[in-house]
Amino acid sequence: MQENTAQKEPRAWWKEAVIYQIYPRSFMDANGDGIGDLAGITSRLPYLRELGVDVLWLSPIYASPNDDNGYDISDYRAIMEDFGTMADFDALLAAAHRMGLKIVMDLVVNHTSDEHPWFIESRRAKESPYRDYYIWRPGKAGKEPNNWESCFSGSAWQYDAATDEYYLHLFSKKQPDLNWENPKVRDEVYDLMKFWCDKGIDGFRMDVISMISKDQRFPDGPVKPDGYGDFSPYCVSGPRVHEFLQEMNRRVLSHYDLLTVGEAAGVTIEEAKKYARSDGKELGMVFQFEHVGEGNGKGSIIEKWTTGKPEMPKVRAILNKWQRELAGCAWNSLYLDNHDQPRCVSMFGNDSPKWRVRSAKMLATCLHMQKGTPYIYQGEELGMTNTRFHSLADCRDLEEINAWHQYVDEQKRVSPETMLACFNNVARDNARTPMQWDASENAGFTTGTPWLAVNPNYREINAAAETGDPDSVYAYYKKLIALRHTHEIIVYGTFEPLLEDDPAIYAYARHLDGQTLLVACNWTDHEVPCTLFSDRGEGEELISNVKTEKERTLAPYEARAVLYGKAEA
Ligand code: GLC
Ligand code: CA
Repeated sequence: MQENTAQKEPRAWWKEAVIYQIYPRSFMDANGDGIGDLAGITSRLPYLRELGVDVLWLSPIYASPNDDNGYDISDYRAIMEDFGTMADFDALLAAAHRMGLKIVMDLVVNHTSDEHPWFIESRRAKESPYRDYYIWRPGKAGKEPNNWESCFSGSAWQYDAATDEYYLHLFSKKQPDLNWENPKVRDEVYDLMKFWCDKGIDGFRMDVISMISKDQRFPDGPVKPDGYGDFSPYCVSGPRVHEFLQEMNRRVLSHYDLLTVGEAAGVTIEEAKKYARSDGKELGMVFQFEHVGEGNGKGSIIEKWTTGKPEMPKVRAILNKWQRELAGCAWNSLYLDNHDQPRCVSMFGNDSPKWRVRSAKMLATCLHMQKGTPYIYQGEELGMTNTRFHSLADCRDLEEINAWHQYVDEQKRVSPETMLACFNNVARDNARTPMQWDASENAGFTTGTPWLAVNPNYREINAAAETGDPDSVYAYYKKLIALRHTHEIIVYGTFEPLLEDDPAIYAYARHLDGQTLLVACNWTDHEVPCTLFSDRGEGEELISNVKTEKERTLAPYEARAVLYGKAEA
């Protein structure tokens, strides 16, 4: 085993922090209209303080017609009416800061809403001063300018009769893409970022930031099974993306002390090293998507719509690769859950009553002991699970609704039953059911009718039950977070993969200043042999999810982390 203490990592507060993501629509409703809001978040700050997280990342709270739940912004300097007012925001920020909690905002600048004044002006006339804020092209022989498919089904181009041209939207047609080639657009973005920085926010999570630079030739993409073309070779980490981010860094980021994380679907290791370069010229870290996309191959019906589950050895190979390759040159983010993913205990663990709690703790151990900044998505700390959709009427997400119309209704490539099975497995609404606060009606989320039904299991799985229970998933997350704050090895130790051929155990070691932390996690529902700890002798157990451990085996879904050696003075 290599006990190296490689070159010391440059320190930063955001490397030592644990981030908690809030999806405001589903977190806490203070006024009974069925929609979460800022006053609701403020009322729950003590819960978050008690959990021990350092930073809250708020999914978008800006003015929006809500085609994509706030990821379609019509005014970057105003608060969504459903969520409250700017005064509510200022109160939230001040209260959070008083409690030592930082706030990171979602920055959605690949696109705006089609109801943003820039777009309304842009679509009015070809001569409009705002025309070039967006990406307009004439049709080709009466058809779309190219074959690109939008992420939310159908063509990525929308015809607009007013000027007889098409505009590009990589997401919904109510999310037209901004034209980053235009320096005025970049100036606007930097200005709005400064507006929020000057209010005192602590960072940005940058929505699909890997897609802001498009290949200006706009060529057809490789044809996919559904007949549309894939835009990613021409838009993901496009020609000028690093130039733009370095400019953003010079003009804005470098003037503040911020956490920055770029959502970078499709990002490769080589690209990630540029985005998250340790010289700080672009971003602090990126979200890569390989491990959460691992299930797609198996049982895939169409693209992301799958009934398959990821296989641990493949997930391990992906995460270990990111650990190895970014070591010493860029910083990792660590996550299994967010508002676009199914619940991790349902996807990677086992959400049956018998194993839910234990497997949720196992997954948390496996992730939180790795090197990088961990992200917890609301309810993950309770072991919240996927919900059940009985028909399309139960769904709210436009991705689900559009996919259903395209694949079930129009193309008839999938039966309604199969599509529902896929939804129950991977639909984004699984993550968006309201936060489960207590066993009262609607899980204590609202006194009204929730905008998306609560998961029926809220009577068993809820914060009130778990905060008082030392064996709960919540108590376990709290301990994991505290360990990261007290043990430098968890933050800065080097990462060494172990047992990389084991079919059941995900194991690794961390090393720092003569100490070693051994972590072993059994991802299966059966007992497996494991001599990692017995071979090593006496150590200090930092955390485990099983009460009576056996020396040479791991119980089903057991996770253990043991520290060896004395820290050098
Ligand atoms: C990101 C967001 C997702 C949104 C999309 C378009 O992937 O996380 O929720 O739908 O961007 O803004
Ligand atoms: Ca409300």
